[in-house]
Amino acid sequence: MSTIRAVTLRNGVKMPLVGLGTYRVRDQALVDTCVLEGLRAGYRLIDTATVYRNEHMIGNALKRIFAENLIPGLKREDIFITSKLAPIDQGYDACYKAVMKSINALQVDYIDCYLIHWPGTQRVKPSSPQNAVNRAESWRALEDHYHAKRLRAIGVSNYTTTHLLAMERRAQGEGGTSTSTSNAVLPHVHQFEMHPRLLQNDLMALCQRLGIQVQAYSSLGEGRLVIPAAALQEHVHKLGQNNNPDGRGALPIMGDLIRKYFPTDVSSSAAAGAAGAAAGAMGVGEITAAEYGKRAAQILLRWGIQHGAVVIPKSTNRQRIWDNFDLFGFELDPQDMAALDAYSEGEERTRYCWDPTLIQ
Ligand SMILES: NC(=O)c1ccc[n+]([C@@H]2O[C@H](COP(=O)([O-])OP(=O)(O)OC[C@H]3O[C@@H](n4cnc5c(N)ncnc54)[C@H](OP(=O)(O)O)[C@@H]3O)[C@@H](O)[C@H]2O)c1
Repeated sequence: MSTIRAVTLRNGVKMPLVGLGTYRVRDQALVDTCVLEGLRAGYRLIDTATVYRNEHMIGNALKRIFAENLIPGLKREDIFITSKLAPIDQGYDACYKAVMKSINALQVDYIDCYLIHWPGTQRVKPSSPQNAVNRAESWRALEDHYHAKRLRAIGVSNYTTTHLLAMERRAQGEGGTSTSTSNAVLPHVHQFEMHPRLLQNDLMALCQRLGIQVQAYSSLGEGRLVIPAAALQEHVHKLGQNNNPDGRGALPIMGDLIRKYFPTDVSSSAAAGAAGAAAGAMGVGEITAAEYGKRAAQILLRWGIQHGAVVIPKSTNRQRIWDNFDLFGFELDPQDMAALDAYSEGEERTRYCWDPTLIQ
C-alpha cells in the first residue's frame, strides 16, 4: 500500500486518490477482468452502487482474487470499497436494511464508504418536502452504521450547496430531528459530477469549509470529452437513454495540451504545426484517436486531482484502465488549469449526468 497515493479523510481514514468506476459494468466476466486488471494496475478504490446491480459481482471477483492469491499479498483492508444507497431506499428503515444488503452482496464485513446516491427519493416529486425528510432519516441510518463500524466513512452524492447546508444546520442541532448532536456526523465525502465543463466552485468551497473530501465522477464526461468530435454521436447513442444528446464533446484546447505535455506522442509534422500555430483550437486529426483518448483522459483526471478531488474513471478496456491510473508523471501549470476551468463558464458549461438542482 505504500505506493498508493491517498487522501486522509476528516476521521483519519485513508482514501486512495484514484479509483475504478463501475457504472454500466454488469457482466460477471467483465467485472472479473476489470477488477483484476485495475488491482494489477495499482487501483485500490472500487466505486459501485446498489443501482449499478454489480455489487455481488464485485464481491465475487474480490473473493476469487483473495482465494487464488491473484494479487500476491493483497488483503481486504488494502481495498477501499465505495457503495451507494439507491434512491428507492431513502428513509431510516429502508436505508438501514440497504446497507446490510450491500455488505452481504459485496461479501465483506464492512464497507469503506457509503454514500446517499441522490438527494431525492424515487417516486417522490422533486418539489416535495418529503425528499428532505427522507434523506435526513437515511443519514441517521448511515450514522448508526458508522458508529457500529460497519461503514468506515459516510457521505453523499449529487447534493447541492442547499442540501449540504441543511446537513450542517442539523449537525449543529437545528432542524428538529431526533438525532442527538453528539452522534451527528457531517459527510466525510461528497461525490459529484466534475470536469472542466462543470467546475462547481461554490460546492467545492463549501466542501472545503466543512472538511468534506470531494470525489469527482464523470471526469471524462462519460467518454464524450476523450473522443474526437467525429465519433461523438455514435458514442452518445451507445450510452443510451438518460444521456444528454446535445452534450458537447472534446475540448478545443485539448490538442494543444496533448502536444504540450506529451510532445513525443505526436508526429513530428503535427508537432511542428503546433509550434508554429497561434493559440486556438487544434484539429485532433494529427493525433491518433487512441493517443488522443489516452492523453485527454490523463489531462482531465490530472485536472481533477490538482483541484483536490479523488477521481474514479471507468473503463472496461485493459489498456485504458492502466492509462487512467498513470497520472503522476506530469503536472498541469496554473495557466492551463485556468484555461480548462474557463470551460465551466457561459455556453460551454455542460452537465452530462443527472441534475439535482430541482430536488427539494
Ligand atoms: N454518484 C453518481 O451519481 C455517479 C454518476 C456517474 C458516475 N459515477 C461513478 O463515476 C464513474 C465514472 O464516471 P462515468 O462512468 O460516468 O464516466 P467517465 O469515467 O467520465 O467515462 C467513461 C467512458 O470513457 C471511456 N474511457 C475511459 N477511459 C478512456 C481513455 N483513457 N480513453 C478513451 N476513452 C476512455 C470509457 O469507455 P471504455 O469503457 O470503452 O474504456 C467510458 O465510455 C462511474 O463508473 C461510477 O462509478 C457516479
